[in-house]
Amino acid sequence: MEIDATSAANIAEKGLRFELVDTADTEKFGLWLQADGRGFHSPRFTPETAAEYLAGTADRRTSAVYDDSSAEPGMPVATVNSWATPLTVPGEHTIEGWAISSVTVASTHRRKGIARNLLEAELRAAKAQNLPLAMLTVSESTIYGRFGFAPSTLTADYDIDTRKAKWTGPTPGGRVHFVPVEQLREEAPAIIERARLKTPGEILTWPHLWDRTFGISTDDKDFVKKVRAVRYDDADGTPQGFALYTFMENDHDFGKHTAEVRSLVTATDDAYAGLWSYLLELDLTTKLRVPLRSVDEPIRWQVSDFRAVRSTDVRDHLWLRILDVEAALEGREYSAPLDVVIEVTDELGFAAGRYRVTHEGVHGTSDSPDLELSVNELGAIYLGGVSALTLARAGRIQQHTAGSVDALERAFHSPIAPSLSVWF
Ligand SMILES: CC(C)(COP(=O)(O)OP(=O)(O)OC[C@H]1O[C@@H](n2cnc3c(N)ncnc32)[C@H](O)[C@@H]1OP(=O)(O)O)[C@@H](O)C(=O)NCCC(=O)NCCS
Repeated sequence: MEIDATSAANIAEKGLRFELVDTADTEKFGLWLQADGRGFHSPRFTPETAAEYLAGTADRRTSAVYDDSSAEPGMPVATVNSWATPLTVPGEHTIEGWAISSVTVASTHRRKGIARNLLEAELRAAKAQNLPLAMLTVSESTIYGRFGFAPSTLTADYDIDTRKAKWTGPTPGGRVHFVPVEQLREEAPAIIERARLKTPGEILTWPHLWDRTFGISTDDKDFVKKVRAVRYDDADGTPQGFALYTFMENDHDFGKHTAEVRSLVTATDDAYAGLWSYLLELDLTTKLRVPLRSVDEPIRWQVSDFRAVRSTDVRDHLWLRILDVEAALEGREYSAPLDVVIEVTDELGFAAGRYRVTHEGVHGTSDSPDLELSVNELGAIYLGGVSALTLARAGRIQQHTAGSVDALERAFHSPIAPSLSVWF
């Protein structure tokens, strides 16, 4: 696919060049990567780490803005990359979405409209490929609403007082094994793949992400010294989950370590019980920290003391932007019968229109609307974790026909709270 002509022309008017980066050109791609890191105020990539990133993300559509008048003309002043990837939606279905990442604009070139051109170019690229939605995780929640995105999964960090939280959940049928990290890295993809399809909001992850998570990548030498890796096998001996965790010592009391979980992936409820109960019962440990989890974790209901499990820092995580209302809404299952007419507004035009939405199908209509909402609210409720009723009470969905918001909420609600366990 070519570079987006509209954004390229807008950026050219500013005396800059908007181009696709040939990721086979490692020198050029290497500078793109350093610009991306600089944009997030990260340390410079070492040659080894850079080589891993370049190999791990070369298949993405990679774009850059160059300023030929700058002191380093080969170094992009803006970056973005993107790729098509499945997103799990309610009903254990997946639909293809356009993942957008590495959005940076150099601090020397900020607030000139460059990011707007990058984002609009990405949305047009997604639309041109008939992808029903775009998605991203964000550094700041103030940036993307203007482009029609809204938070569709929320996340929370869990802090557990393990002295109080005695396991009262089901007795796991299988057992936990310590496994060498490298071995688990090989075994993990099959587990990750099954777990992904159970939770709306999860996306297909990529090998380099897991190399970094496991500490196998060169940029995380300290982690790899400390990490412990366990696998849960069910009663038949099939691996159904794994956890990676480290300990933070308490200098004053060796019996009060904090265990910090970097990754906890379970493909079954039995594996969930097996690994959580294992982590809660670690010796010499009084605190368990498990970040980036679902806001609705069963663990709350599996311990002796409800207040021993505190979820903190509830926040937005996956942001969605619907581009094709019919394809997006037809891609998921509904929890109750539905038949409403919705009027969708969209400043960028992609999704604007009036649609009859039923649990069996969606089509354009000229019937009068029962509800009005913008594409942002549609993105927010799409995965069934944000309540349409809450958005109506917040004044963000307008109801014209009594009962239609209730009906929308009942149908859209996902029995499993949507959640995304990675950043991208
Ligand atoms: C966020 C970032 C990409 C914005 O780039 P930019 O080129 O300065 O943005 P633009 O000039 O195109 O701004 C577009 C609009 O977004 C607004 N905006 C930009 N950054 C914003 C921010 N951080 N918070 C709130 N609004 C922001 C602008 O005011 C402008 O609003 P308008 O369209 O209503 O006039 C850039 O500041 C950056 O690289 N930040 C650090 C890295 C980062 O956080 N990237 C995002 C990763 S998810």
